[in-house]
Amino acid sequence: MAMSLTSKYGYKVGCGPYAPEVYRLPFPNHYRYGAGLSEAAFVERELCRFRESLTNTVAAEQVAAVLLEPVQGEGGFIPVPQTYLQGLRQLCDEHGMLLIMDEVQSGFCRTGHWGVFQHYGVVPDISTWAKAMGGGLPIGAVIGKADVMDSARPGTIGGTFGGNPVACAAALATIRLMEELQLNTRAIEIGRRVTDRFRAIQQRFPDWVGDVRGIGAMVAIELMTNGDPHQPATELTGEVLKACVSRGVLILGAGIYGNVIRFLAPLVITDELLDRGLDIIADEVANAVTRHS
Ligand SMILES: Cc1ncc(COP(=O)(O)O)c(C=O)c1O
Repeated sequence: MAMSLTSKYGYKVGCGPYAPEVYRLPFPNHYRYGAGLSEAAFVERELCRFRESLTNTVAAEQVAAVLLEPVQGEGGFIPVPQTYLQGLRQLCDEHGMLLIMDEVQSGFCRTGHWGVFQHYGVVPDISTWAKAMGGGLPIGAVIGKADVMDSARPGTIGGTFGGNPVACAAALATIRLMEELQLNTRAIEIGRRVTDRFRAIQQRFPDWVGDVRGIGAMVAIELMTNGDPHQPATELTGEVLKACVSRGVLILGAGIYGNVIRFLAPLVITDELLDRGLDIIADEVANAVTRHS
């Protein structure tokens, strides 16, 4: 089912068959698809598209749930617009559809809150969590409103490793440390520092750096060619990633076209080390741009 849900086809080629009756709508990416529209007009158009899909694609009463990442991870660190999420919440309430938010990548302090939904003040019916939760040990969680969670009868959902004591102890210790070190606050500071540096890179290379975006310490830059957001600079991005890795800075690509550099510094990083990493990224973007200019 998880493989059915992802729209990043690179992960699933040759792995089918997939579950039917998963319907996808484009993520409301204003940067890429909103040319000439204000955010308000763009969101209205996208919500209209959603409403129409309940008439021309699938009946609302057939929809169990609407699922999204409030900040896309693999998709390129794209935060959902506030009014779009509010609109989705309203539509879900209106039609009795559950709203599920995937916080696997964004959760546990990464964005300066335990979950991204807290930034928006929009509460999901179900949310999914993992990654940072166990500080490296394998653990994930599904959190939901009591009436939703209690509707699964005892014994119907289980697995070999559910409730593994070592992983649970690691998660509890990790959460305690996150509280003690106030990593939500630290994530906001790191995010500011990274965003400032990325914006400086954008100002220096406005024809190459199309967007700097993110929430808290979940920040990315999107690279383009010829100042055109519709011409992704995939090759250049790959070169920057490789060069940074060879200099000891582990950064990841993202985005459908692999033209986004996402920056996920450990939240316990010192300012000094963070700056050293950012210096190397700035350097390597400059080197790659020079080669391609
Ligand atoms: C947003 C998001 N959801 C889900 C997953 C998959 O999570 P898991 O490996 O816990 O199934 C990932 C990445 O691994 C992810 O980034």
